[in-house]
Amino acid sequence: MFRTLTTLLAIGTAVAMPSVKPRQSSSIHKLLIGTPFQILTGTFDGSKFAITGNHTAAGTAPSWMLYKSPALFYAVNENANDTSLFTLDCGTGNPTFKSAANGSSGVVFLEFNSDKTRMVGAAYGSGMIDVWDVSAQDGSLKLLKNIVVPGEPNPAQGAHHPHQALLDPTGRYFVIPDLGGDSVHVLDSKDDKYEITNTISLPVGSGPRHGGFITDGDTHYYALATELSSELYLFELKYDDDKLNLTQVQKQSTYGAAFPPANATSAAAGELVVASNNRDVYVSNRLSGNETDSIAHFTYSGAKLDFYDSVSSGGILPRMFSLSTDEKLVFVANQAGDAALAAFKRTEDSGELDPTPVATLPQESLVAPALAATPSMGPQFVLEI
Ligand SMILES: *[C@@H]1O[C@H](CO)[C@@H](O)[C@H](O)[C@H]1NC(C)=O
Ligand SMILES: *[C@@H]1O[C@H](CO)[C@@H](O)[C@H](O)[C@H]1NC(C)=O
Ligand SMILES: *[C@@H]1O[C@H](CO)[C@@H](O)[C@H](O)[C@H]1NC(C)=O
Ligand SMILES: *[C@@H]1O[C@H](CO)[C@@H](O)[C@H](O)[C@H]1NC(C)=O
Ligand SMILES: *[C@@H]1O[C@H](CO)[C@@H](O)[C@H](O)[C@H]1NC(C)=O
Ligand SMILES: *[C@@H]1O[C@H](CO)[C@@H](O)[C@H](O)[C@H]1NC(C)=O
Repeated sequence: MFRTLTTLLAIGTAVAMPSVKPRQSSSIHKLLIGTPFQILTGTFDGSKFAITGNHTAAGTAPSWMLYKSPALFYAVNENANDTSLFTLDCGTGNPTFKSAANGSSGVVFLEFNSDKTRMVGAAYGSGMIDVWDVSAQDGSLKLLKNIVVPGEPNPAQGAHHPHQALLDPTGRYFVIPDLGGDSVHVLDSKDDKYEITNTISLPVGSGPRHGGFITDGDTHYYALATELSSELYLFELKYDDDKLNLTQVQKQSTYGAAFPPANATSAAAGELVVASNNRDVYVSNRLSGNETDSIAHFTYSGAKLDFYDSVSSGGILPRMFSLSTDEKLVFVANQAGDAALAAFKRTEDSGELDPTPVATLPQESLVAPALAATPSMGPQFVLEI
């Protein structure tokens, strides 16, 4: 009902006040896509996807990539301990492998510090954090530090699993959800020290996975999706002289109250994205047991998040999704199910996602041929660059 009402309001607004925003000069969205064994580049032209470039390396899992404008990116290999540097051909846009370096094994996320001279990797597979010096002119990787994640992991999991390392709004701290430790670690980058200075505990069995920051006036918040309990937490960020602490202000299901998962046991929240308006928060709900999985939309207001709506992801296991750079689209990577890639329109006023995808690509056109017979080998990552 809420959707119908807001749709009507949006139409009313559009009629009364036609959009005066200039269109982007180019309507071609360039994409970086990761699937097991493959790093692909592609385009979305507003109505369809096309794959344009392809770097295949058997055995690799480039499940996260970090882009640096104009033409380089780093890729993890979740199946080993190498992190690689690639360049993008300025004509064709094809990815070219440049160099690699070994760090901890099982890295699943990369993030720069504020001046992009350092890069932090979260090593899910080995319970480590890697700090790289990437200040060289050519972007090559030099390992500065391996940090062992402190404390006891959840006995049921038996190991720490740092899943993300997100630079906070002040640019000093990296916030690291630890799925196996049921905790969130704070890594202080001050004076290039890169030390874990605080650990915030969450309930046993919650499994913190991915988060995002929301700024409201002078106050910052951290929204966090937990994989094992499929919950959406909201924390207030409390800064003290040399400390960042998190104070929980809210917790709710990532499904909202209206659309529970068909199978609460398998349900595993995945990605979380905060739009630049600091209001719209999107969470992917995976392995829901429903016909397809979904992207849930919450809105922030007055120190809380309210469930707004949920749309089908077009497939199963939406491990990752991202907003287009103009934030008028959402690109979803489903590891299984019908649509491997899907593009959804996002209404900027309401943040609402159109439930009918503008375009999709089937799994057969994206899964590496060597893995065609293995389940869930679809894309794990998609990002407009
Ligand atoms: C990483 O380590 C593996 C195993 O020791 C080795 O085969 C590989 O050459 C190393 N890669 C780099 C870039 O050093
Ligand atoms: C990378 O992994 C290889 C084995 O696969 C190991 O020999 C090497 O020490 C690792 N490198 C680091 C820096 O952990
Ligand atoms: C962090 O915040 C929590 C919750 O408000 C509080 O219990 C804890 O004492 C704080 N920790 C530090 C180190 O300030
Ligand atoms: C998923 O299945 C559950 C149980 O059948 C149902 O209540 C829920 O509405 C479904 N979700 C969606 C988005 O259809
Ligand atoms: C729900 O998920 C669990 C864990 O994956 C699985 O063991 C169980 O069979 C599923 N239940 C149904 C009804 O599919
Ligand atoms: C990428 O290249 C490999 C090797 O040529 C090929 O087998 C595979 O089908 C290509 N992948 C896509 C998505 O086009």
